[in-house]
Amino acid sequence: MRLHFSRSWGLLPALGGVGACLGGVLSFAWPKVFSSSKSMSFESWRLSRTELRDVFNRYEQAVEKDAYHMLQPSKLERRLLGEDLLNRRVTAVRQARDVNQRFVQEVIEDLPDIMAGPDAAVLPARPVAEFRNLGDGVDTLPSSSYGSMASVFLHLMRDWSQKCEHVVQNQYVPAVRELKALLPEGGQVLLPGAGLGRLALMMASEGFQVEANDASRLFLTFADYLLNRAPADGRQLFPLAHVFTENFGHAQQYVDMIVPSVRPEALAALAKSPEGRAPLVLVPGDFLKTYEEGGPGHRKFDALLTCFFIDTAADPAKLFQVMDGLLNEGGVWVNIGPLNWRKEARLKLAWEEVVGIWQRKGYEFVTQKNMEVDYHMPRGEKMYTESYNVALSAAVKRRRVEETGAAP
Ligand SMILES: C[S@@+](CC[C@H](N)C(=O)[O-])C[C@H]1O[C@@H](n2cnc3c(N)ncnc32)[C@H](O)[C@@H]1O
Repeated sequence: MRLHFSRSWGLLPALGGVGACLGGVLSFAWPKVFSSSKSMSFESWRLSRTELRDVFNRYEQAVEKDAYHMLQPSKLERRLLGEDLLNRRVTAVRQARDVNQRFVQEVIEDLPDIMAGPDAAVLPARPVAEFRNLGDGVDTLPSSSYGSMASVFLHLMRDWSQKCEHVVQNQYVPAVRELKALLPEGGQVLLPGAGLGRLALMMASEGFQVEANDASRLFLTFADYLLNRAPADGRQLFPLAHVFTENFGHAQQYVDMIVPSVRPEALAALAKSPEGRAPLVLVPGDFLKTYEEGGPGHRKFDALLTCFFIDTAADPAKLFQVMDGLLNEGGVWVNIGPLNWRKEARLKLAWEEVVGIWQRKGYEFVTQKNMEVDYHMPRGEKMYTESYNVALSAAVKRRRVEETGAAP
């Protein structure tokens, strides 16, 4: 099997171990300590400064390892490569390193300094996305899942760079169009697995009341920064500096972009939110535990939108049961994404089986299309592109059918 820089849990050949958990003495789980008042000392769904530094260090170590023999070539390698190519490589590696360090350093400095003590903590400004803690604590993903700097860089590029305008146009716009066709007056929409928040904000700017959810502390940390406090003119980033494979030239690897390329506040200004309230709510925590019946987030929504999310589930039947429990009759489920099931998934369903399950729950599929999409880099630039022929679907809950095993 070929492993590429994939959207899934940081399986990166060039970055072996980057997404892996630190074991033994270095592993430390933040306590689930939340208080709902403004005096909360820290929000445990965010990474601490040292944790983020640690994630970034591992990224840099992996890059250094992959670049090592090009930066420190043998006599033979040096002679064969020639001084010109070698110098260009050294300059590019160093420039990307310095720029990415500056980018991440700003995020680190944006995090609270835990060492300043409980009284020094002040909640940061959140004009675009309110982060809402539900309950006394939240379950988040282990750092091996959506916990690598490489996957955040790729998602920064996917959601917040000009380079990935095709993602907005070919993935987010069609999904929102389905939602609008079924809910022209707007409504309350839940977006599980919201990543870095671009789609959630787009939905809010189209008049929906959006609750977004994610369980990765690394992604939540970056989403909070990006949506609420990123510099208005963005910052330079080399999001592919770690991808040493499938490059025609240095230009494909050392491609820089401004992140964010659009101001979240400008998108937020289009949203209809009550005076003084942020247009977007982000709920940290594992989707199943947060939204299952009896969970702190369980309530009814007018719609659910899943985008490259359902195949992240280890237990798809349970996922679908929880999703269904969030919709009343007339409720809408829009989905866009592939079925790139993880190894641990109990049921590795084909799309027709997914559809069958939902139909048996009483859902009518009003849209079922295939779409050719590129997850982040547009095809044609590198030798490999993470491209999918995804399912885009919209289904409406018509009536509950008892799941007795009999066909509806
Ligand atoms: C493939 S990414 C897609 C992100 C975003 N929807 C997009 O299209 O860019 C999957 C997202 O789901 C989140 N996720 C994975 N398992 C989750 C869970 N159990 N609960 C909530 N979010 C989860 C990950 O942190 C990640 O942000």
